[in-house]
Amino acid sequence: MVTKSQFLNIIPVYLKSRDRSYNIVVGIDILNQLGTEVKKLNPGESIFILTDSNVGKLYSNQIIESFRIAGFSDIDKFEIKAGEKSKSLKISESVLTHLYKFDKYQQKKIVIINLGGGVVGDLGGFVAGIYRRGVNYIQIPTTLLSQVDSGLGGKVGVNVPLGKNLLGLFYQPCLVYIDLKVLRTLPLRELKSGLAEVIKYGVIIDGALFQYLEKNYRRILNYDYGSIKHIVLKSLKIKSKIVTQDEKDTKDIRIKLNYGHTIGHAIESATGYNQYLHGEAISIGMICASEISFKLGLINENDVKRIKNLIEEVGLPTKIRKCRIEKIMNSMKRDKKFKSGKNRFVLPVKIGAVIVKEDINENLIREVIASHIC
Ligand SMILES: NC(=O)c1ccc[n+]([C@@H]2O[C@H](COP(=O)([O-])OP(=O)(O)OC[C@H]3O[C@@H](n4cnc5c(N)ncnc54)[C@H](O)[C@@H]3O)[C@@H](O)[C@H]2O)c1
Repeated sequence: MVTKSQFLNIIPVYLKSRDRSYNIVVGIDILNQLGTEVKKLNPGESIFILTDSNVGKLYSNQIIESFRIAGFSDIDKFEIKAGEKSKSLKISESVLTHLYKFDKYQQKKIVIINLGGGVVGDLGGFVAGIYRRGVNYIQIPTTLLSQVDSGLGGKVGVNVPLGKNLLGLFYQPCLVYIDLKVLRTLPLRELKSGLAEVIKYGVIIDGALFQYLEKNYRRILNYDYGSIKHIVLKSLKIKSKIVTQDEKDTKDIRIKLNYGHTIGHAIESATGYNQYLHGEAISIGMICASEISFKLGLINENDVKRIKNLIEEVGLPTKIRKCRIEKIMNSMKRDKKFKSGKNRFVLPVKIGAVIVKEDINENLIREVIASHIC
């Protein structure tokens, strides 16, 4: 195991079956030690790196080198086109085809290394879960969003034309390895998108984190490592605790992470996955959910204002452009959280607490979403 002196922090994710529990390693400038850490963990001998066209150019040579130095000789790499459109069944087939060719007689001890943001992580985890009924995989999240959220928890999958993340499984990685230094090359728009998920943690569970963001968002947007480290570690602790308590989303605990996502996913899907980044769509979703909550008398006006203000100040969108309300309403009906046709929403009751509410009047939802379309 990695020692604390080399890294900022190691956060455990405990799961019911102990052999599936794993660590999240967080550090700065630690990519070149990846090979050594993987060697110690021994999840496989043949390294299959999945990355995208942006991240591959920047970091794949460095990690390949670190695997070589650690003594791995059987290494392959597959690069997908960057962007949400690659999180599809078609692209997962291309990855699988390449993987079959690498794993000649399907006898190698493969470990898949997902080097990239949430798209690579979700797609690569999905492929790892179905290839030969499951092989080990490691997440190396390189966006703020994937470092604070999608990189851990084992919800992996792809989008289908009918909706977002509609095909997938729970399949946990054996290690999450986070190098904060890679965020220096992340475009500002992507950094803001990741910040949306941190705002989410503040609203659903941690009022102090929300306050920290209100005070420090400018420093974060200036790529200040001290404040980024603070929010990444806080977020990871929140998510790992939730995943430990409700790994498979069956106890109304993990569902809290979906605050803003019911409407957010519908916006992403209705706009063809090319108008909004994930964090941008869920920002609008978080505002809509807080307004629905206000109209139901569940949250006070000041808290709704604080949520809206922070999202606006960060520079995340609050309006839906070029999309018909019917398209969003239809996409929303395919949401996995709906039960027996009844809608289910995660609604804030104050900054730091949410409830799950079912069967909300459709006209109310429609009215709130429509008021954000311009
Ligand atoms: N599995 C989960 O629990 C979970 C949770 C939240 C979100 N998600 C999913 O995550 C996806 C969004 O992830 P994302 O926001 O990371 O998007 P992404 O993977 O598309 O990455 C965003 C962009 O940043 C680029 N990039 C990544 N790291 C970089 C770096 N260090 N330097 C320069 N460029 C870099 C990528 O090439 C891409 O163009 C969505 O599909 C969403 O549904 C999953």
